[in-house]
Amino acid sequence: MQLKDKVAIVTGGGAGIGEAVVRRYLLEGAKVVVVDVKAKSELESTYADADKDRLLLLQSDITKRESIDEVVRSTVDRFGRVDILFNNAAIFDMRPLLEESWDIFDRVFAVNVKGLFFLMQRVARQMIEQGGGKIVNMSSQAGRRGEALVSHYCASKAAVISYTQSAALALAPHHINVNAIAPGVIDTPMWKDVDALFARYEHRPIGEKKRLVGEAVPLGRMGRPDELTGAAVFLASADADYITAQTLNVDGGNWMS
Ligand SMILES: NC(=O)c1ccc[n+]([C@@H]2O[C@H](COP(=O)([O-])OP(=O)(O)OC[C@H]3O[C@@H](n4cnc5c(N)ncnc54)[C@H](O)[C@@H]3O)[C@@H](O)[C@H]2O)c1
Repeated sequence: MQLKDKVAIVTGGGAGIGEAVVRRYLLEGAKVVVVDVKAKSELESTYADADKDRLLLLQSDITKRESIDEVVRSTVDRFGRVDILFNNAAIFDMRPLLEESWDIFDRVFAVNVKGLFFLMQRVARQMIEQGGGKIVNMSSQAGRRGEALVSHYCASKAAVISYTQSAALALAPHHINVNAIAPGVIDTPMWKDVDALFARYEHRPIGEKKRLVGEAVPLGRMGRPDELTGAAVFLASADADYITAQTLNVDGGNWMS
């Protein structure tokens, strides 16, 4: 067990990659705080089979300043500390670059950038008091290059890479490692919306974009959420003590860097 008795906060832990990481962190011996905007009842039913002694479910919206404080306070009240932040919650949206999109900009940046940054800052203050910790931010292959239809989401994920680098430098003296993961195309609930949006803007049948992006991956298919969990454990563990400021691609070979 690589994370025995570590205390981890996982945002967006109610579905997809976040849920897979919560389950793997529990298997690795961690105590886990699931933070998700989904209803508490939904989170309870998702984790009905999990060990309640090592799990705290928080319905919380990371775009709200008071929620960020509350997440860290509740974690410390219940488990006494925070060793790991898996900063994963995000939303996807897209629209052609020349069309009106102030609404998309505000929503996407509120969750993917503002929420991620200020939760990282709040958790880092707690980790400094404790003498160290591990922060893993979720970027994307979308943060490596722009896309004509997906400008705001791509920019938000590029911002995650940049904040990861700045935070890694600022927090290095405090023994806090800050890294990011850049997944490629992973078969999660998010892809239902992504596929539907591409169908609309590229005039495709539903399901075609999802099939094509999977076929284009060098390893020949989309990833599964559980295939992100190895990197999520590694970067949160003592094995990554000498790694910071990096963004690790977990994408079947889509991006080479
Ligand atoms: N699925 C992919 O192909 C893919 C690719 C690259 C990067 N990513 C990134 O991986 C991460 C997880 O993606 P996923 O595919 O599992 O997404 P998902 O939509 O399946 O799950 C995201 C979870 O985040 C929660 N969430 C959304 N807004 C929130 C908020 N304001 N506060 C708290 N929780 C909130 C949602 O309720 C949901 O449970 C995201 O950062 C995403 O950008 C995903």
